Amino acid sequence: MAKRVTRLGGLLAAYQRRDPAARSKLEIFLLYPGVHAVLYHRVAHWLYRHHRFFLARCVSQWSRFWTGIEIHPGATIGHRLVIDHGMGIVIGETAEIGDDCLLYQGVTLGGTGKDKGKRHPTLGNNVMVGSGAKVLGPFTVGDNARIAAGAVVLSAVPEDCTAVGVPAHVVRVAGKIATFADEVDQISVRDPVEEKLNAALSRLEFLEKLMDEQYLKSRREESAGSET
Ligand SMILES: CC(C)(COP(=O)(O)OP(=O)(O)OC[C@H]1O[C@@H](n2cnc3c(N)ncnc32)[C@H](O)[C@@H]1OP(=O)(O)O)[C@@H](O)C(=O)NCCC(=O)NCCS
Repeated sequence: MAKRVTRLGGLLAAYQRRDPAARSKLEIFLLYPGVHAVLYHRVAHWLYRHHRFFLARCVSQWSRFWTGIEIHPGATIGHRLVIDHGMGIVIGETAEIGDDCLLYQGVTLGGTGKDKGKRHPTLGNNVMVGSGAKVLGPFTVGDNARIAAGAVVLSAVPEDCTAVGVPAHVVRVAGKIATFADEVDQISVRDPVEEKLNAALSRLEFLEKLMDEQYLKSRREESAGSET
């Protein structure tokens, strides 16, 4: 029981840290739909793990009606998940969310319809997903990644990266601009044909030198022979 109260305290403190508009813990506990959705989900997930699928679904549907946030009872959610505003969020059955993540309204952690079994994304720790972003498929979004508002993410996002756009692409790696083309040295590019040609020329020069030496040697021997 004490552990649960500490966890709830941690969750409410996370809202205070993440949301500048959040005031007291009591207000957050009583009035924030994200907190209610997570608490309902804990119950639904417990029922789901104990194969009470219908009851689990009842709880999650009630939660959806009450909060506007739809979390499938099978989804795995880490500690201190902050759901800001929340309305319109959908989290699929096989989605996994690490600790200290932040989701804004309208986020979908969904499937593409092509996969079976694990078909929803896995978010690492401290991942932020902006409002309206869709993360679709059974891939991983690494720790500390940031998904921009409105992005549609269809493949894995490495840790510490910011992904934006439709389909999403990485624009920042650990806060630095990620224009990989700029990092390629386009002036001193290797030319394999030129390299082979240079190697053949060097060999030719070596053989010419060898033949010259042989020629001079034979001439010396000839002249030495004629003198004797
Ligand atoms: C992506 C985001 C997290 C900023 O991340 P960041 O790592 O600090 O990146 P920057 O702000 O430096 O932006 C990086 C680039 O992405 C672009 N970008 C930022 N947000 C974008 C978005 N939502 N869609 C498309 N491009 C976006 C920027 O213009 C910038 O482009 P540039 O490289 O051409 O300059 C932020 O813009 C965002 O979308 N936050 C979500 C917030 C939200 O949903 N709020 C809802 C409150 S209710």
